[in-house]
Amino acid sequence: MHDTLRINGDRLRQRLSELGNIGALPGGGVCRLALTDEDRQGRDTVMNWMRELGLDVTVDVMGNVFGIRPGSAEGPPVMTGSHIDTVRTGGLYDGSLGVLSGLEAIETLNDAGITTRRPLCVAFFNNEEGARFAPDMMGSLVYVGGMSLEEAMATEGIDGKTVGECMQAIGAQGDAPVGNPDVHAFVEIHVEQGPVLEESGITIGAVEKVQGISWTEFTLTGTSNHAGTTPMRLRHDAGYVAMATASFVRDLATRLGGDQVATVGAFEIGPNLVNVVPNHARFTVDLRNTDSDRLQQAEWQLHEFITQLAEREGVTLERRQLARFEPVPFDPAMVDRVEAAARTQGLSVMRMPSGAGHDAQMLARVCPTSMIFVPSVDGISHNIEEYTAPDDLEAGANVLLQVLLDLAA
Ligand code: GLV
Ligand code: MN
Ligand code: MN
Repeated sequence: MHDTLRINGDRLRQRLSELGNIGALPGGGVCRLALTDEDRQGRDTVMNWMRELGLDVTVDVMGNVFGIRPGSAEGPPVMTGSHIDTVRTGGLYDGSLGVLSGLEAIETLNDAGITTRRPLCVAFFNNEEGARFAPDMMGSLVYVGGMSLEEAMATEGIDGKTVGECMQAIGAQGDAPVGNPDVHAFVEIHVEQGPVLEESGITIGAVEKVQGISWTEFTLTGTSNHAGTTPMRLRHDAGYVAMATASFVRDLATRLGGDQVATVGAFEIGPNLVNVVPNHARFTVDLRNTDSDRLQQAEWQLHEFITQLAEREGVTLERRQLARFEPVPFDPAMVDRVEAAARTQGLSVMRMPSGAGHDAQMLARVCPTSMIFVPSVDGISHNIEEYTAPDDLEAGANVLLQVLLDLAA
């Protein structure tokens, strides 16, 4: 009925740029790690925008924020949204595009005087990135009942502070309950963060599934000793085990092939001196695969390698699982809706998996869910150079608007 309604691309870009100013980095990009003062400023800004648009704003006990626009009928809302926290070297679009496209859709409906039958809700979820506090998607995971509030609050971050302390410090906690949400459907727009759409010359990705994620932190303890006098056969070199494992992890992905990716993203070594055999190493491994069995195979091979090498070197090994999520298929009918909305608007569209984790994969546990991807220039993300062309941002937000109208009619 409102097939020709379109969002205002300039207004969307203006909000993206205003939010991008909060935590802006000198060379471009943004650092708004979860539950920092910058995150608080971002949260306040978006909540103010929600209120200006007439949304009824609720915050839950996990710090997830919901702006509701009533429909002509009562009932569970059609929800959209994403996150506004970033990694330390974030771009302007990762997460923010999903939240601000939702607000743009609401403003477009306000301007056109349209009331949908079902309520609409624009949400942003706490600590999606997991870069400060693992696991990623923590807010949406707690929202859908996949992790207890107590466990989330007790989670220690990379700086030793807990989620609970930091939530209190920035006043992020609300009083709405979590764990059993009633949502009619969820759709999230996000930048692809990879090269596929750009390489294929296609504007819209209709996301069919999210790949499985396995994050582990390894801590190795050996013996520090003199680098000149300690024969190789007597060493208990924690650094060696860590570095050999990092190299193994890279080869593992190449050997397994297919969709397997593997990353050692955080790495520390001690005492970190030129002439001392390291007695300490700590590092993280991020393994992902669209196939559950292959992901398990990768985890097992990593486990075998590091266990044996640590034993041979006489180094003690501790491991801590930071995140573990199975691959998540999205609802086929929801994927069809995204594809149909793109086609109706004359946009090129392809079905594809998501390489990154998203709040949508948690919402998929409680309601029909799908995602809309738009191209990332050079496939770059988690980097201040992250960029999506203005026309593509606008195209994606227009697909979102139509999917929301379709679901809420
Ligand atoms: C987080 O969203 C990730 O995919 O690392
Ligand atoms: Mn994201
Ligand atoms: Mn991200």
